[in-house]
Amino acid sequence: MSKKIESHLSENRIFKPSREFSKKARVSSMAQYRRMYKESIDKPAAFWAREARELHWQKRWKKVLDWKPPFVKWFTGGRLNVCENCVDRHLTNGRKNKAAIIWEGEPGDKRILTYHQLHQEVCRFANVLEANGVKAKDRVLIYMPMVPEAAIAMLACARIGAVHSVVFGGFSAESILDRLEDSGATAVITADGGYRRGKIVELKTSVDEALRKYKGVKRCIVYQRTGEKINMRRGRDVWWHKEAEKASSSHEPKGFDSEHPLFILYTSGSTGKPKGILHTSGGYLVGTYTTCKYIFDMRDDDVYWCTADVGWITGHSYIVFGPLANGVTQVMYEGAPNYPDFGRFWNIVEKYGVTTFYTAPTAIRAFIKAGDKFPDRHDLSSLRLLGTVGEPINPEAWMWYHEKIGSGRCPIVDTWWQTETGAIMISPLPGCTPTKPGTATLPFFGVDAAILDDEGNECSADEGGRLVIRKPWPSMLRTIYGDRNRYRKTYWNDYKGIYTAGDGARTDKDGNFWIVGRLDDVLNVSGHRLGTAEVESALVSHPDVAEAAVVGRPHEIKGQGIVAFVTLKEGVRTAQTTDKILKGHVAKAIGAIARPDEIHLTPALPKTRSGKIMRRILKELVATGGVTGNITTLEDFSVVSNLQKNLKK
Ligand code: WT7
Repeated sequence: MSKKIESHLSENRIFKPSREFSKKARVSSMAQYRRMYKESIDKPAAFWAREARELHWQKRWKKVLDWKPPFVKWFTGGRLNVCENCVDRHLTNGRKNKAAIIWEGEPGDKRILTYHQLHQEVCRFANVLEANGVKAKDRVLIYMPMVPEAAIAMLACARIGAVHSVVFGGFSAESILDRLEDSGATAVITADGGYRRGKIVELKTSVDEALRKYKGVKRCIVYQRTGEKINMRRGRDVWWHKEAEKASSSHEPKGFDSEHPLFILYTSGSTGKPKGILHTSGGYLVGTYTTCKYIFDMRDDDVYWCTADVGWITGHSYIVFGPLANGVTQVMYEGAPNYPDFGRFWNIVEKYGVTTFYTAPTAIRAFIKAGDKFPDRHDLSSLRLLGTVGEPINPEAWMWYHEKIGSGRCPIVDTWWQTETGAIMISPLPGCTPTKPGTATLPFFGVDAAILDDEGNECSADEGGRLVIRKPWPSMLRTIYGDRNRYRKTYWNDYKGIYTAGDGARTDKDGNFWIVGRLDDVLNVSGHRLGTAEVESALVSHPDVAEAAVVGRPHEIKGQGIVAFVTLKEGVRTAQTTDKILKGHVAKAIGAIARPDEIHLTPALPKTRSGKIMRRILKELVATGGVTGNITTLEDFSVVSNLQKNLKK
């Protein structure tokens, strides 16, 4: 009871933007938001055409929207070059000598690239790609540290119409291999290594391992970051800097169809195999451009910083394409938030005068734990707007962010979206939306979000249900690469013609959306999506493992931690196959982010009579230590009591 009252109280803390912020903001009143929202829903073609006209089209579109559920096309007949919009456009609109990227490496090295310099580097690298045989529609896998060249590589691919697939630098060789095979990539762009927490991450070594098994790659272009000795295979591997020396710094940006594929980004689902989310050009660019403009209220004197890695969708949409399309100045940082200590981010904010700061709740929780002394040592008065993404933010973390980092002055935009949505879908607009700690508040323009029950009826306020989007939006995924069936089944199967996000949510009486969490077997670990099935299949790939079940458990910093229950094969001794070995095995198979926090070896898993593992029971066991729900379908009751005893130890 007291808990209920408490959550009721916290929901009633309402924060409105200051009059000063509102006055300057693009959307400065709720009346204006409602008017624009209504237009965007009633007349989407008119609304989005107006936004799209702010970008450069080599050929104007014929039709704004072509919707044959579940397949959509935006700006059909239009031709554009995404890279030209992010780079060349700013050479003639007064931003030529403006800093595009202010970069800081983890060891402390610094670089600044103006839009003019970015243009030269991107052109040079587009020429390098073409000289190395990369053509439009070819798939190029990018596996890079957070250096400007990661963005340059993505932009250069876009410039020549090649489809990039960025793989996060923390993923393993086996993950690279899966993505190479699924995408059929013919080229790889990587680096010798990168810096993370004072250590070198050997990227090229992982690429080499993957390329021993995948033979489709004709060229591997290697950027030199650390100078460590690496293996260069003659005829296949070339150095970025040597190729760039030979290349011209001018390159004509050809126009591509609005629906030309821009990139594939793999993300976890409820099966063991990650899905290749396909995004295309025109709609994606309009979506990321528009959300940056209104939600981050981007303007020319901003210094914007998104702390994500380019390996995730946040890095694609809110480091590379959206911010650059807006011609903003942004900070890019290579390393860890706690290197050399937890003051690093605040040092960067102070040094470069960051105005807009976009990070993840998991980072905020880690900062809270590290102590106020770190932000207290720095002048954070340049900040005007804060953002979060990746998971629901707990009200305590929201309040700390608001008070300690924002001095109670900066609006916070809690942005809900997904790899699939391409751009932010639910978020406050900083100049008008009243915010409450923990809610992403209201849908963005054109986003027809709702909460439905199992029958497809709209839930009433405070009633939990499934979060859906009832109309197509410009930056929507177009398909799962090479698997239209899985695309249909995953997102469009619950209700006819309606996109299901896979999240459980509710609205409050003011219409704010509160995201509760995933409804499927997907975990959210430090704001990153991981399928339980993926971790399970990694475990089962160990020769000593017979069966595995993986569940999430609340984790103070990471949001969710990974708990695995493993049954070893007959005759394997637990002393031989320790939990430490199995944890290392998962890290090797997927990457360090998937390393389980706990592994419990057990002679049996709780199953139904038909042999299905009852993860629900395991979830409850790790969360509460007991089981309260219905377990009558359980095949063997002793399994649960044994596990219970085991967990108590
Ligand atoms: C899932 C998408 C979108 C970029 C980062 C993650 C969760 C994301 C929020 C938020 C509550 C959130 C959802 C979503 N999520 N942002 N502001 N509040 N939950 O991208 O890996 O595609 O994961 O992250 O569960 O479905 P992703």
